[in-house]
Amino acid sequence: MTNTSQPIGIFDSGVGGLTVFKEIRRALPEEDILYLGDTARVPYGIRSPETVRKYALANANFLVKQNVKLLIIACNTASAIAMSALHAMYDMPIIDVVRPGARSAAAVTKRRRVGIIGTEATIRSRAYEQELERIDSSIVVYQQSCPLFVPLAEEGWCEREDPIATMIANRYLAPLKETGIDTLVLGCTHYPILKDVIQHVVGHNIVLVDSAEEIARETVVVLERSGLRRRDTRQGSETFFVTDIPTRFQETGSRFLGHELNNVHLVDIIAERSS
Ligand code: DGL
Repeated sequence: MTNTSQPIGIFDSGVGGLTVFKEIRRALPEEDILYLGDTARVPYGIRSPETVRKYALANANFLVKQNVKLLIIACNTASAIAMSALHAMYDMPIIDVVRPGARSAAAVTKRRRVGIIGTEATIRSRAYEQELERIDSSIVVYQQSCPLFVPLAEEGWCEREDPIATMIANRYLAPLKETGIDTLVLGCTHYPILKDVIQHVVGHNIVLVDSAEEIARETVVVLERSGLRRRDTRQGSETFFVTDIPTRFQETGSRFLGHELNNVHLVDIIAERSS
């Protein structure tokens, strides 16, 4: 039987899902949160759908074994590719990042021209395009994959002043600026770490959509609706798991969250899966 005191589980390939973690923590301070970053296998975005599905299932399996009451796929690549496999596998509330992102973009765009940036796998899956088409078929979508953004974010080279980050962002985003979009979806949870660089490059007339806030709102609604939200006022705990040495995750994560990440554990989810 699921109960309110069980933790929430969040996973991503690395530090990117911390952008979602931050908003979940803000919206639900009383909840215990388990975060898994699959740092041994990052990046997901350059891999085949079969591989991404396999990794996503291993991550979910690890968190479910830790007794989570709700699962958040804080990774667009895994959401775009493995959502239905995860739903088929687990009988618990599962929240993805693609639908909330598409919803926010549709609400924001005035000219009905939306840009999507994401990993190669996310862009190839056309998940955002299909979701936006479902919401409002008059919206024109322009897509661009930005594979070098994930290593930049993992490395922590994300300041606006960083010439390498700016140069790479320019190369990817210059063609998108020409399309007349007024809204740009950060369709990878790593990208909000580079938000300042991206905003600087595209200019302030384009609204950046980071789905994290919308995901946090949806999580509150789902917990309420399923009777799983904690009722007590307390500071919830935060536990982080990584699948490779924690040093870089700890450094980049601490910088991004603005506080030390102390509770970081190295785990072997592949061994867990076969045990
Ligand atoms: N942060 C993930 C996403 O939202 C995955 C990035 C990657 O591992 O390539 O797509």
